[in-house]
Amino acid sequence: MGAAVAGVAGKAFYDTVRQDDEDLVPLGDSAAGLPPRQHAWNASLAVDEAGNTIAPRFHRLLMLDVRSSGDDSVRRLESALRTLERTLDWGPAGLLFVLGWSAGYFERWAQMESPVPRPRPLSSFEAPELDDYDACLHLASNDEARLEEVEAALVRGGRFDGSDGPDLRAVFTLRETRTGFIGNGLPGDRMNVAGIPAAAPMGMGFKSGFKKNQASEDDVTIADGPLKGGTTMHVSQIRTRLESWYRLLDEQQRVARMFAPQLSPHQVRSLGDEAPTFAEAQDATAESYGVVGHLQTTAQARRDGRPVILRRDFDTIDGGSTGVHFVSLQRSVDDFIATTEAMNAAHLSYINPSVKGTENNGINEFLFFQRRANYAVPSRSQRSFPLLQGRGAALT
Ligand code: HEM
Repeated sequence: MGAAVAGVAGKAFYDTVRQDDEDLVPLGDSAAGLPPRQHAWNASLAVDEAGNTIAPRFHRLLMLDVRSSGDDSVRRLESALRTLERTLDWGPAGLLFVLGWSAGYFERWAQMESPVPRPRPLSSFEAPELDDYDACLHLASNDEARLEEVEAALVRGGRFDGSDGPDLRAVFTLRETRTGFIGNGLPGDRMNVAGIPAAAPMGMGFKSGFKKNQASEDDVTIADGPLKGGTTMHVSQIRTRLESWYRLLDEQQRVARMFAPQLSPHQVRSLGDEAPTFAEAQDATAESYGVVGHLQTTAQARRDGRPVILRRDFDTIDGGSTGVHFVSLQRSVDDFIATTEAMNAAHLSYINPSVKGTENNGINEFLFFQRRANYAVPSRSQRSFPLLQGRGAALT
C-alpha cells in the first residue's frame, strides 16, 4: 500500500513538473562553435595589411534597466541572445555583442556586493554624470540596417529575420540608446567638421588600435573568482571639440598631441602594427617641448611592457555634437583608472608649468567626459542575470 501511495504522489509530482515545463519560456539551442568569452571578437575581425584588427563599422549601446528578475526573465533573456546568435554569424558581417552588468544590478537584483565598482569622476577637470543603469548591451556590426533591426526586435517588439523577434520588453526597460561608427571615411561623411581627412577612420583624423598598442583578449580576461572567463567594461561618453582641434592645430601639432612631438605626420602615416610610445621620454618631453602626446602619457600605465586595456571605442554624433563613446575592456576597473590617471599626467605641471591638466597635455584639452559607467562582463554561459540566486535552476 505504501508503494501505491508513493506511486500516486509520484504521478502528481510528475504532472506538476510537466505542467511547469510546458509553461517555461523555451531556451532554444545555442549556436555551435561560439567562443566561451562574450568579449572574444578579435578572431572574427578582418585585419589590415599590417595585421591590425579592423573594428566593426557600426555600434550601439543599449542602456537597460531590469523590469523583473524572475525565472521567466532569465530564460527570456538567454533565449533572445541565443536567437541572435543562431540567426546571425558571430562576426562583423553578422553581429557581435557583449552584455555587461553594473554595480546597481548586483546590489539591487542579485542582492550582493558588486564585483565592479560604481563609476566616479577621474580627474579634477571633469564632472561626468555617473550612469546607474542595470545593464549595457554593446552591439556591433558592419551592417547598419541589421543593427537597427536587432535593436527594434529586442526593445520595440519589431520583427526579426521575417518572424517574431527576440523580444526583451518583459525583461528590460530601454533607458537610452547610444550610437556610433568607426572606419575609413565614416567620420568625414557623418561629422560635419572642416578638416577631417576624407579617409580617416576616426574624427580626430588618425588610425587607432594598433595591434601592439592594445591589450589582447587574453590580457583582459579574468582568471578566477565569480567572473572567471569574463572581463570588465568601462563606458564613457566624451564630447570632442573637433572644430578647435582642426582650427587651432596644424597636422604636426595634432600628431604631437595625439602621439608624441618626436613623431612626424609622415611617420604616423607609415606605421605598421605599432605606434612608438616615447613613454620613457615623457618627462623630458614635457620639459623640452612643453607638450606631450596622448600615447606617450597613456603608455605609462603599461604592465610588463603591454597596455592593460583593450579599447573598443567609436565616434558618435549623438545629441548633435561630435564625440566618442569610449568602451574599454580590462581585467579590473583599476586598470582603467590607472590608465586614466596616466592620461591625466598631473605631475607634468611640476616639470613644466605649461603642461597642465587640459593644456598641452595629449588630447585632454579637446575632450569632455560627460558620462561614465562600469560593468562586469561575464563569460557567455553566465551572461544572463549573472550571480543571481537560482539562475542555474532557471536555466535548466
Ligand atoms: C576621443 C578620445 C580618444 C581618442 C581619439 C584616442 C585615440 C588614440 C590614438 C590614436 C592612440 C594611438 C594609437 C593606437 O590607438 O594604437 C591611442 C592610444 C591609447 N589610448 Fe587613446 N584615445 C582617446 C581616449 C582615450 C581614453 C579615454 C583612454 C583611457 C583612459 C585612452 C587610452 C589609450 C591607451 C591605453 C592607448 C595605448 C597606449 C599604449 O600603447 O600603451 N584613450 N588613443
